[in-house]
Amino acid sequence: MSTHPSAEPVRAMLVLGTRPEAIKLAPVARAMATGSQFEPVVVTTGQHREMLQQMLDLLRVDVRIALDVMRSRQQLSDLTARLVRELGEVLRAQRPDLVVVQGDTTTALAGALAAFYEKIPVAHVEAGLRTGVLDNPFPEELNRCLISRIARWHFAPTPAAARHLTDEGVAEEQVFTTGNTVIDNLLWVLAEGTGSSAFRTGGRRILVTLHRRENQGERMRGMGRALTRLAARGDVEIVLPLHKSPAVRDALLPELDGHDGISLVEPLGYLDFAATLAECDLVLTDSGGVQEEAPSLSKPALVLRTTTERPEAVEAGAARLIGTDPESIVTWANRLLDDPVEYRAMAGAGNPFGDGMATARILAQLAEDFAADVPVGLTASGPYSTA
Ligand code: UD1
Ligand code: UDP
Repeated sequence: MSTHPSAEPVRAMLVLGTRPEAIKLAPVARAMATGSQFEPVVVTTGQHREMLQQMLDLLRVDVRIALDVMRSRQQLSDLTARLVRELGEVLRAQRPDLVVVQGDTTTALAGALAAFYEKIPVAHVEAGLRTGVLDNPFPEELNRCLISRIARWHFAPTPAAARHLTDEGVAEEQVFTTGNTVIDNLLWVLAEGTGSSAFRTGGRRILVTLHRRENQGERMRGMGRALTRLAARGDVEIVLPLHKSPAVRDALLPELDGHDGISLVEPLGYLDFAATLAECDLVLTDSGGVQEEAPSLSKPALVLRTTTERPEAVEAGAARLIGTDPESIVTWANRLLDDPVEYRAMAGAGNPFGDGMATARILAQLAEDFAADVPVGLTASGPYSTA
């Protein structure tokens, strides 16, 4: 345990490695950099290479330390081992007051674990999401459960996420419902207003993203074939920014490359992605972040997965969990394109993921705890507390 000298800024190490972590920690890094209470030390692990870099440039995040762990077709065990070892070295050299991790990626898990080994407290942004199925999404459900055993601060985006944590025995005084920082960033980016949409024609516009490991292979090829059936309607334009993962490209390119009505594009920068989302009529996705952003822009989202850790959008009526079966994808997409009543009901359901103030709540809580004249330990209390 350590007390923090109140005159000094709190040195917060933000560890991020993938596109969504950059998007969701960018507002935290920017807010810390503008005030005097924190010194943000941003460490990028390079779990993603091109897709991370394009985000950092756009989101105006200053990187202090850049690791380069990515390998093509990386295996989870190798990636995890490299990350824990390299982050351990960085932590021993930097000795921050806390480590901030986001979500459920391998980078987030390794960042939390390496911090625990160095006895540095961890703040978990987007804590408490659960599907209740340990291997779906794979490996993210396990990752976030493990991070919850390690973290000192649990910043839950919604009341339901906060409840998952207290139900698992995390002490209530360590759990804070803040909203999701993705909304803070989306509002900031839309206010910048400089992105351009990837849609080119006047047809009904469908934005698709697909990347989940548990969908790769034959299941993703089937999803690709469903898209060709939708394109055959003749009145739609489908834009699909292709994830850089070779496994995603192996599945989708043979089905979709050169197909009429389907534009395969490289990953879009966040400003352009936000503009494309704002212009679309319908979203088909297996992405976590896109499930959160679509309702904020009143876009119905069909979630191409068998589970979701974001049931709030489904319960609000803004999203529908339709599974991965091609028949279901075609049926539901056609229904929303052809039934204006159904469409309006989903589009008008609202956004349950936050009000754009999540970052402010997170920083206020951390500042309060570091200003208090009590030691900031690894954990506060509860069944998993440290001695
Ligand atoms: C990771 C996260 C997932 C998150 C997703 C966001 C884990 C286990 N998974 O999945 O939770 O939803 O990021 O997109 O942490 N690659 C490139 N260039 C890039 C990015 C990736 O070539 O810019 C390649 C990598 O070399 C790798 C593959 O894509 O072989 C997959 O990347 P990886 O980070 O292992 O998993 P994702 O499926 O991207
Ligand atoms: N995104 C982007 N460009 C793209 C596709 C997605 O900027 O071409 C953004 C999207 O707005 C969302 C985030 O990337 O905020 C989601 O990332 P991804 O789907 O890779 O990961 P997940 O959210 O599923 O972990």
